[in-house]
Amino acid sequence: MSETDEVLQLAQRLAREAGEIQRDRYETDIEVRTKSAAIDLVTEVDHACEKLIVETLERERPDDAIVAEEGGGTDREGAAWRWIIDPLDGTTNYAHGYPRFCVSIGVEHHDERTVGVVYDPLLDELYSAVRGGGASCNGRPIQVSAEPDFGNALLATGFAYDVHRSLEDNLNHFAQVLKQARAVRRDGSAALDLCYVAAGRFDGFWEMKLHAWDVAAGLLLVEEAGGRISHMRGDPADRSGRQTVATNGKIHDALIRLLARD
Ligand code: IPD
Ligand code: CA
Ligand code: CA
Repeated sequence: MSETDEVLQLAQRLAREAGEIQRDRYETDIEVRTKSAAIDLVTEVDHACEKLIVETLERERPDDAIVAEEGGGTDREGAAWRWIIDPLDGTTNYAHGYPRFCVSIGVEHHDERTVGVVYDPLLDELYSAVRGGGASCNGRPIQVSAEPDFGNALLATGFAYDVHRSLEDNLNHFAQVLKQARAVRRDGSAALDLCYVAAGRFDGFWEMKLHAWDVAAGLLLVEEAGGRISHMRGDPADRSGRQTVATNGKIHDALIRLLARD
């Protein structure tokens, strides 16, 4: 088995194990705290999932770099493999008992997105992608939609936790797109939004001020499902997630044009 396949299998196993924690403790009495703002939450389940993933990686792949949202793991300079982990994407949903959240694990090899795995534990949907190997959901190949017409497109977006105090709040973009597309969703899990673009459920997605762990897996899923990813002005996407646009490719330029309007 190639090392990439070993990494894929480990990412799938860890995503399922963390997802099981999320499923078991969903709608139970869990501790919830705030982070950067009163609306930025973290629960004991975020920490439990991260602990499971990071401790296993440190045991089984001690030379790899790890970037995990809640601060576990060590980002080793020069490591061949880097794991970028969102242990629970959709924390606000989780804390409210709204059934849309996931585990997201992206892995870079020499700084190139190479493996992406996202697990939705309630729907039992495991999304996987390997660079050059296509994208799948529960083992079945997935691809982006074929919709060419922006007026028929279903899109998704999200708002950052600084929305109460920042003028860069995505509301103008939201209004522009809402007036032209068929509909826009704001469903609270960027990693799943990207999977839904990959699976052809959404025709496009954009969001500002995301982080590497939100997009590390989902961007590869969209690319491998035949979609297009970029920054808000169309230049190539980087790993930071600060400006993320992902579509079926066909509506990409139309979306970029709308996002450029003020
Ligand atoms: C958040 C979700 C949400 C997005 C936020 C993210 P978290 O991640 O992906 O959809 O709008 O920008 O921070 O905090 O639930 O891991
Ligand atoms: Ca997240
Ligand atoms: Ca998270």
